[in-house]
Amino acid sequence: MLDIQNIRRDFPFLKQMVHGKPVVFLDTGASAQKPNVVIDAVKESYTNDYANVHRGVYYLSDQATEKYEGTRKVVQNFLNAEKLEEIIFTKGTTESINLVASSLLDDYFEVGDEILITEMEHHANIVPWQLMSKHKPLVIKYIPVTDKGELDLSALPSLLKAKTKLISLTHCSNVLGTINPIKEIIQQIRQNYPDIAIMVDGAQSIVHQKVDVRDLDCDFFAFSSHKLYGTTGVGVLYAKEKWHWLMSPYQGGGDMIKLVTMQQTTFADPPYKFEAGTPDIIGVIGLSKAIEYVQGVGMDNISAHEQALLQYATKSLKTIPGLRILGESEHKAAVITFVIDGFHANDLGTLLDLSGICVRTGHHCAQPLLQRFNVPSTVRASFGIYNTQEDVDALIKGLNKAMKMLN
Ligand SMILES: Cc1ncc(COP(=O)(O)O)c(C=O)c1O
Repeated sequence: MLDIQNIRRDFPFLKQMVHGKPVVFLDTGASAQKPNVVIDAVKESYTNDYANVHRGVYYLSDQATEKYEGTRKVVQNFLNAEKLEEIIFTKGTTESINLVASSLLDDYFEVGDEILITEMEHHANIVPWQLMSKHKPLVIKYIPVTDKGELDLSALPSLLKAKTKLISLTHCSNVLGTINPIKEIIQQIRQNYPDIAIMVDGAQSIVHQKVDVRDLDCDFFAFSSHKLYGTTGVGVLYAKEKWHWLMSPYQGGGDMIKLVTMQQTTFADPPYKFEAGTPDIIGVIGLSKAIEYVQGVGMDNISAHEQALLQYATKSLKTIPGLRILGESEHKAAVITFVIDGFHANDLGTLLDLSGICVRTGHHCAQPLLQRFNVPSTVRASFGIYNTQEDVDALIKGLNKAMKMLN
């Protein structure tokens, strides 16, 4: 069992009052609060160790490079990637997906090729493919979602064609909370289509459970540091080595070159070929602290704690008359999205805020999914390592109060 009160002491944000009330933070799915170890590492690095990486011959630049590259090793171990070069630093999940889309466009995709995504994707895993198909006409198809909020995998055989070149799907839905059976899906695809590129959007899953990219057998895996208790501005793309030479550089600039002449450029070896310009050095260093933090708590302990909260919150929310939860899969992370008959999500969110309760309202950057469920706007409570049953009780109390005020 986790000592949650001890964990909460690691997060200074949680000591805050909002509108005169103790803050109840239920928006970790959007971005997590930061523990002291991350905040301190950022402060310490800017105060004492700051210098640009890869460039200087002096001691401090060497130190910064060592810490920055040390994080690559930490991430490699965290994801169980086979090679260090398979870890590419980006700005976030969004950039990781855009990087894959853009890098594969020239040499991998041909006009008329098909990309398969799902109806439950975040816009970050829809729009990059649509943008790419403007440059080279490609067909985007969607695996449907059932009323329960799961992927309808019976549709998979008919959606997979010889022309399907890439499948990109979320490991965990940021709206439904559904954890997709990625390993089984990949096994099924590989039986008949062993060479298709398979990308996993891990933005939500990485925070709730252990991830092993070799066990999943995916080609690409993306996540953001800020959702994993690290800073904003840093993400990771795991890219299996076999794809590196098919992938064009994503951006041009410093650090990604071998030789530049006035006529042309030869590129550095991966991962540097994909990391143009000065990166978010301190953010990357912060990521290693965030990973060490969650590993210290234990991913299995985090999963167990969040699952208990999910059960408690689901049961409690269902006591509210007219409340409907979107996504009732048995395999869910601690993300609960709901609507209440006769109440607008934004009104509920605004009144909850007055009680110090932070939830997200709206479409959660998943408009096609909300269209699929025929709801314009929803409320989402998403839970993290530091949330408690008291937070759930505060949410229920806050919702009842808001509904009374709006009636
Ligand atoms: C499932 C999913 N994919 C992608 C993203 C985009 O992440 P970022 O904004 O950190 O790039 C999010 C963010 O909420 C998400 O939940």
